[in-house]
Amino acid sequence: MDIAAELRQLQAATLADIEKAGTTDALEAVRVGVLGKKGSLTQVLRGMGQLPKEERPAAGRAANEARDAIEAALSARGEVLARAELMERISADAVDVTLPGRRRPIGVSHLIEAEKREIAEIFAGIGYTVVDGREVESDYYNFTALNTPPDHPARGMQDTFYVVDRSGDEAAVRGESDVLLRTQTSGVQAHIMEEQEPPIYIIAPGKVYRRDVADPSHLPQFNQIEGLVVDRGITLGDLKGTLDYVIKKIFGPDRETRFRPHFFPFTEPSAEVDVSCGICHGKGCRSCKGTGWLEILGCGLVDPNVFAYAGIDPEVYSGFAFGMGVERIACLKYDIPDLRALLEGDMRFLRQF
Ligand code: DAH
Repeated sequence: MDIAAELRQLQAATLADIEKAGTTDALEAVRVGVLGKKGSLTQVLRGMGQLPKEERPAAGRAANEARDAIEAALSARGEVLARAELMERISADAVDVTLPGRRRPIGVSHLIEAEKREIAEIFAGIGYTVVDGREVESDYYNFTALNTPPDHPARGMQDTFYVVDRSGDEAAVRGESDVLLRTQTSGVQAHIMEEQEPPIYIIAPGKVYRRDVADPSHLPQFNQIEGLVVDRGITLGDLKGTLDYVIKKIFGPDRETRFRPHFFPFTEPSAEVDVSCGICHGKGCRSCKGTGWLEILGCGLVDPNVFAYAGIDPEVYSGFAFGMGVERIACLKYDIPDLRALLEGDMRFLRQF
């Protein structure tokens, strides 16, 4: 076969292969097979040297034509394939903006926090300021300044956790630390009376700690809301009126309150306040142990000794104070039979509120 015919055949076969190539990789394989170092056209061109002189120009022309045609076809097909592959990649990589976003569930306040806030808002509505206290407190503010000096028997009712100074404070190491986790929010009273001039109308919500084993009605850590009023001419009537108003706001207007004489070292006279049972409405049931009443707070008129510790003249000023347990109020309001349920973090329980 003469070389021109061979070249035409090679060209036709190559153009068909180019047309068949379905990917840029397959096309590249065709190119290497024809135009590469060992490619079929390259071989033919190499063989040209052996041709007789007079055949060379015609063969050269045919070879150039074949190469030009093959290169043109390669580049045209290459463009088509590259474009198709690009489109494919774009559609495969595309972000589907119609996919719904992932929702993060929005949390709500825990019942204890919500109750604390609700009570604080009721007091804020009648002119009280909300103040902060400290959970790690000194023995002096937790007890002594509240008319409960060392060896006072009332200290025994509120055993707590003492904070031991590891730096080698000898008294602390002997177990005589005077730094403790507060047993009550009442210490805030002593701080505020030292820091502020009357008139004082404050509440102080916060955590307190006691060495109690958790059971349906006790927790080793719980929340109280302390209240303190110091002004001229404050009477027991003001205390009763204020608490009556607040308790009805918390529990509803149909609930009655009852003041029972009691003892607290820092108030004189002192009382415990009960709210009428919401389940039996005072008739007596299991919830209120047959009494018709539920105890919710302690209160009284500020003892003159407490004023003396804080440097307030009891001849000029008088005042009242109270302390309520937040968990207890939440349980009574929502008929929760066991305080521990509030701390367990069971979402099936907590979601109800
Ligand atoms: N601190 C008392 C307790 O934890 C509650 C209390 C009673 C607070 C009488 C007061 C108060 O401010 O006047 O049991």
